[in-house]
Amino acid sequence: MASPIVSSLQQVFFEQFNVHPRIFRSPGRINLIGEHTDYNDGFVMPAAIDKSVFVAIGKRNDGRIRIWSTDFREMYEGQVSDVCKSGMGWPTYVLGVLDQLQQEGYQPKGFDMALASDLPIGAGLSSSAAVECATVFALDAIFGYALPLDRMIRLAQRAEHSFAGVMCGIMDQFASMYGRAGHFVKLDCRTMEYAYHPFIADDLTLLMLNTNVKHSLASTAYNRRRMECAQGLAWVQEAYPDVQALRDVTLEMLDRQVRHRDATVDMRCRFVVEEIARLHAACADLVNGDMVSLGKRLLATHDGLRDMYEVSCQELDYLVEKVRTYPGVIGARMMGGGFGGCTINIVRTEAVDALVAQLSVDYQKDMNLPLTAFSVKPSDGTSEVLI
Ligand code: GLA
Repeated sequence: MASPIVSSLQQVFFEQFNVHPRIFRSPGRINLIGEHTDYNDGFVMPAAIDKSVFVAIGKRNDGRIRIWSTDFREMYEGQVSDVCKSGMGWPTYVLGVLDQLQQEGYQPKGFDMALASDLPIGAGLSSSAAVECATVFALDAIFGYALPLDRMIRLAQRAEHSFAGVMCGIMDQFASMYGRAGHFVKLDCRTMEYAYHPFIADDLTLLMLNTNVKHSLASTAYNRRRMECAQGLAWVQEAYPDVQALRDVTLEMLDRQVRHRDATVDMRCRFVVEEIARLHAACADLVNGDMVSLGKRLLATHDGLRDMYEVSCQELDYLVEKVRTYPGVIGARMMGGGFGGCTINIVRTEAVDALVAQLSVDYQKDMNLPLTAFSVKPSDGTSEVLI
């Protein structure tokens, strides 16, 4: 039995295009720890989640592209011979992938597509990477390109760079494709080696608290952080030419090469160096089942993102401060690029309902915004949905 979202997507596709589609899904992601480390050749620890973008697709042979968004109830129409950024916004991620495929020499002959999602959009759960991954996976399948997963995620990442203008690392696309049910994945973003680590915590819930804010300058600030890291690296390399990325840098190197030159750049780099070390320690905690220690590291990451990397915002800080001392909360922090989106919270399951009830009232009162709370489960990565 197809899930309700899949059945209704099938039906919508048939209504719009009068043929039966194939359907693919690509999940959103969470990240346990290791923030802003991916583009510094560091490590990350994401998981795909049980909320996804669904793509229904059918081939055409006449060079036309039609894409229906069930969320926006809008149709995009274009030609494969003329792929460019669309003013409509949401088609950007599909078109960016198509453009990248063409740059690699693949020439899809046209397609009809419909998009649906049970993944909240713009909540810091990487809905854009999910659309990109679903698109490349679906086009690969229907046109028979047989691209390996690692090429698909690089292509999806380049689509984000060129069409969305966010110079993101590889974490989101990797997590969406490589996720495995019940596991976090520790990824070495330099070598792309990875290891799955089970999240065995029957009495714990991974609770997302969505601030329902997305600050408009987030992508500009993200790209600026990348440049600050690159500047710090360049200064370190003057004295240590073997260093290739912040991943190879020590705090002593920063003391010697960066601190006296620019306090902001120094702070950014220091956060990254500390965060990579924290991730290794947190991974050991997870393996040892030491959730209390793991939770403290999540809180330390939040402090660093707020004070050193300066990518938090008052709504995220509010939520983390509120839960910090709440009984049953093991750890919490802002998650993802920053400036809005969700906090990730590890909470004893029996404490979840009371916490959400209390916090929803407080958040509405103090921040004048609704709070959206939902739990997620580590899940499998991108796949075809067999209907
Ligand atoms: C965004 C980017 C990722 C990563 C995180 C921060 O989600 O897309 O590549 O840099 O921010 O860890």
